[in-house]
Amino acid sequence: MPNILVIAHRGASGERPEHTIESYRLAIEEGADYIEPDLVMTRDGVLIARHENEIGGTTDVAQHPEFATRRRTQIIDGETMTGWFSEDFTIAEIKTLRARERLPALRPQNCAFDGQFTVPTFDEIMQLATDANRRRGGARKIGVYPETKHPAHFAGIGLPLELAVLNALQRHDYVADGSPVFIQSFDPRNLRQLRGMTRLPLVQLLEHELGDLGEIANYADGIGIAKSLASAEGVRAAHAVNLKVHVWTFRAENEFLPDDLKVGDSPAAHGDLDAEIQRFLSRGIDGFFVDFPAVGVRVRDAYISGVQDLHQPLTETSLPGKRLHGR
Ligand code: G3P
Ligand code: CA
Repeated sequence: MPNILVIAHRGASGERPEHTIESYRLAIEEGADYIEPDLVMTRDGVLIARHENEIGGTTDVAQHPEFATRRRTQIIDGETMTGWFSEDFTIAEIKTLRARERLPALRPQNCAFDGQFTVPTFDEIMQLATDANRRRGGARKIGVYPETKHPAHFAGIGLPLELAVLNALQRHDYVADGSPVFIQSFDPRNLRQLRGMTRLPLVQLLEHELGDLGEIANYADGIGIAKSLASAEGVRAAHAVNLKVHVWTFRAENEFLPDDLKVGDSPAAHGDLDAEIQRFLSRGIDGFFVDFPAVGVRVRDAYISGVQDLHQPLTETSLPGKRLHGR
C-alpha cells in the first residue's frame, strides 16, 4: 500500500501565521506526518524558523524604533533585498519581535493572531515535536523536514547552517537510521556538503525543471518539486532512479488553484483543494506540502482506503453491484 506523507508547510500556515510554534502545534494536532521549518540564522548563531533571512515581511520589526537603523540593502543569492536581516540580530533581540501574517489579503482571519506569537528557534520546534512524541507514548514520531535557506550566503558571512541543523537533530534524538527526517535545499552544493556529514535523507528542491535525476540520485534520496513539474511521467522517472517525490505547495485559496477548481470569484475564497490533491495523488507521488494539513490528511486517508479497497479480494459482499444493491 502507498505510504504518502502529509507535510505541514510552515506548520498549519493556512490557519496560523507561518513558522510559529502555534502553527506547528496545530499541524501536529491535525495529524500531519511532518512539520516543515525553513531555517535561517541569527548573529549569535541560533537557527530560527523564517522563510527568508529578511524578517520584515513576517514580523513587526518595522514597528520597533530601536531597530530602525538595522534596515539595509544587500544582495542575497543574486537578488537585491532591502529590509531587516536575521544575521543582524541576536536571538535575544529576535525574541522581542512578534510574528505577522505573510498574506493578509488572502488570509485575513490569520491577522487576528498578529502580534501574539514569537519567532521560534529550531530547538524550540524540535522540543515541540519531542513533547508531542512523549504524549503519544511510543506511537509514530512526528517527522521534521527542515530546509536550509540561503546556505551559501550564511556560510559566506561565517554563519554556516549545516552543523547547527544536524546538532539540533542530534540533541533531540532524530539522527538514528530510520528517524523521520528529511533535510531539503534548493542548493545542490549544500546537499552534497550535507551528504558528507549525515546519512539522514536529503531532498533536492526543484522549481523549474527536473534536470538530471540520475545525477541527483547520487547525493539525494528524494526530490521536492513544484506542482508544475509533477506529471505522472516525471514521477515515474524519479522513481526509476529510486528518488522519492514530494510536491509543493497545496493551498486552499482560489489564488493558488487552477481555474477549474476555483469556487467563486474572490482570490481569498477557498476552492476545491480536495480535488487538486486527489489529482496529484493519482500520479503516484510519495508526499506533499500543504498549508492546510487537516485537508491533506483527510484526502490522503480517503485515497489510501480507496486503493486498499481495490486490493481486497472480491467477495460476494464486496462486489460493487452488491454494494449498490444494498443502498
Ligand atoms: O520546501 C518546499 C517548499 O516549501 C519550497 O518552497 O519557498 O515555500 O520554501 P518554499
Ligand atoms: Ca520550504
